[in-house]
Amino acid sequence: MKSLKGRDLLSMADLSPEEVLAILRLAADMKSGDTHVRCERVLGLLFQKASTRTRVSFSVAMYQLGGQVLDLNASVTQVGRGEPTIDTARVLDRYLDVVAIRTFEQKEIETFASYAEIPVINALTDLEHPCQVLADLLTIQEEFGALNGLTLTYMGDGNNMAHSLMLGCALVGMNVRVACPAEFMPDAAVVAAAQKLAGDRTDVLITQDAQLAAKGSHVVYTDVWASMGQESEAQSRVPLFQPYQVNAEVMELADPSAIVLHCLPAHREEEITDEVLEGEQSRVWDEAENRLHAQKALLAMILGVD
Ligand code: CP
Ligand code: NVA
Repeated sequence: MKSLKGRDLLSMADLSPEEVLAILRLAADMKSGDTHVRCERVLGLLFQKASTRTRVSFSVAMYQLGGQVLDLNASVTQVGRGEPTIDTARVLDRYLDVVAIRTFEQKEIETFASYAEIPVINALTDLEHPCQVLADLLTIQEEFGALNGLTLTYMGDGNNMAHSLMLGCALVGMNVRVACPAEFMPDAAVVAAAQKLAGDRTDVLITQDAQLAAKGSHVVYTDVWASMGQESEAQSRVPLFQPYQVNAEVMELADPSAIVLHCLPAHREEEITDEVLEGEQSRVWDEAENRLHAQKALLAMILGVD
């Protein structure tokens, strides 16, 4: 396996299957207390969108590793006043050891990464959310003991979460089904990339049929129907997405052992009912906790201190 030291994580597809499993292994060892890692490095958080989980879990992960965190929120830096990405990247590169970026266009983090030597981590773009998927896979592995051969169904908008889940599941040998309205299908290039990663080993199914997608699934996953930056469309989308709500009827179709995941924040009674979110099959709080463990392992490996 190639070392992760110094590498960027811009997409789930930047990782090999072995690297995903190695991150999950280290995350589990850190979570159980079997492995302690110390580093004295500085992480910058350059966020252009709101965040609770990603901001706090990255910060706590870095503090627990013995490092420091700088909040570079766009509103308190020149980024918010339009300083070009290529200038910001070359300047921050001289100060920081690693940077996590949350922004709109995937192109922006790719540009940043091409102008900075330090590792760049995608902390969410409109296209992908790979750090969330590392935590999701850790949660699924904790529940089922292994990932290979399981089936994950994602219901709702073919958005950043759908994209990173498709790639992540394909990498670790899970079947993935994405059920969405015709107008909100995932990006065709990401679907093709996931299918290529899956090869003959597993299935990547994109469908408008929510019932078909849920049938016998081990993990039922959903996310908001309108992502950050799409708030003005939120109300008009509701009727279109209603058939893709994760509710008790959908859970009846899934495997009896199925768990429910949601990256959060959730809109109760829209993409998921309160009953299911708070129900016995929900693992959303463990999933949120696992952001910390997965990102701590990722940081340790990227910084070469694992
Ligand atoms: N799931 C997730 O990324 O949450 P935040 O937007 O709160 O960081
Ligand atoms: N799809 C959501 C995920 C939030 C964690 C968004 O981009 O707003």
